[in-house]
Amino acid sequence: MSEPQKPWTVPMLAQARAEGRKLVMLTGYDASFARVLDDNGCDLILVGDSLGMVVQGHDSTLPVRVDDIVYHTAAVARGAKRALKIADFPFGSDGSSLEAHAAAVRFVQAGASMVKLEGAGHKLDTIRYLVEREIPVCGHLGLTPQSVHRFGGFKVQGREDAAAARLREDALAVAEAGAALLVLEGVPAALAAQITAASPIPTIGIGAGAGCDGQVLVLHDLLGLDTGHRKPKFVKDFLAEGGSVAGAIRAYADAVRSGRFPDADHAYA
Ligand code: KIV
Repeated sequence: MSEPQKPWTVPMLAQARAEGRKLVMLTGYDASFARVLDDNGCDLILVGDSLGMVVQGHDSTLPVRVDDIVYHTAAVARGAKRALKIADFPFGSDGSSLEAHAAAVRFVQAGASMVKLEGAGHKLDTIRYLVEREIPVCGHLGLTPQSVHRFGGFKVQGREDAAAARLREDALAVAEAGAALLVLEGVPAALAAQITAASPIPTIGIGAGAGCDGQVLVLHDLLGLDTGHRKPKFVKDFLAEGGSVAGAIRAYADAVRSGRFPDADHAYA
C-alpha cells in the first residue's frame, strides 16, 4: 500500500490505523535531521524531552525546560514539512491545566500540531482542558521517564497483575479524556497488544512489542550513537543495515511498516 504523500494531520492518524498502516515515528531535535526524517518515510517527529539526555548530556529528562522544547520544535518545523510534529511537555510544565495550556500554545506556535504528556490521574483533566481548546494531545504511559525517581530507575512497567490492570484502565481513560494518540513505553509486549486491541485511539510502542499501531525510537539510538547512557533491550542500530543516515531511517520505516521491527529480541516478555 502506498504511503500518503500529503502532510500528515491529526485525523490521518486514526485513518492510518483503520487502514492497517503502521505509524513510523522518530524523535528529532533540529532542522537538518528533521529534513532527512521527512524525506525518508518518517510520519511523525517527536521533539521529545529525551533531548535532555541525548542533546544536552543530562542523566535524565528532568532538567529540560519549556524554552528548550519551543526552541527545538521551531527548528524541527523549519526542516520537516510533511511529518506531523509533536512537542513533549518537559517535567513540571504540565502540573496544572493552565500552566500546560500556556506551554502548549507556545509549542503550537513554534510548529507542533500535537503535544505529548506523560501519565494519567490528574493529567486527565489537563488532557481534557487542552483538547477542548483545540490542542491535540498524545498520551504516554508505562515506563514514563519523568517518573524515574518513583520507579527507582528506568524499569519495565506492568509486569504484575495489578500494575497491568492499572495500565489498561489508564489507557482507556487517556483516550476517553480526548487524546488522539498514545505512546506505550517499556511494557511487556503482550500487555501492549491487549491495550492496543482495546484502545479507541492508535498506540505507538517503544519497548512495547510489535502489537502497537506504530513505533518510535530515539533518533540517536537508531543511528547507534554512544550517548553515554545504557542502551535498553529494544534499541536497534539501523545505521549498520542502512549504510547512511537516510538509509537507516528508510530501513527503520520499512521494518516498522512490514512488522519486522520490533522482533522478540527487541521486546519485553
Ligand atoms: O522524550 C522522548 O523522546 C520520548 C520517547 C522516547 C517516547 O518520550
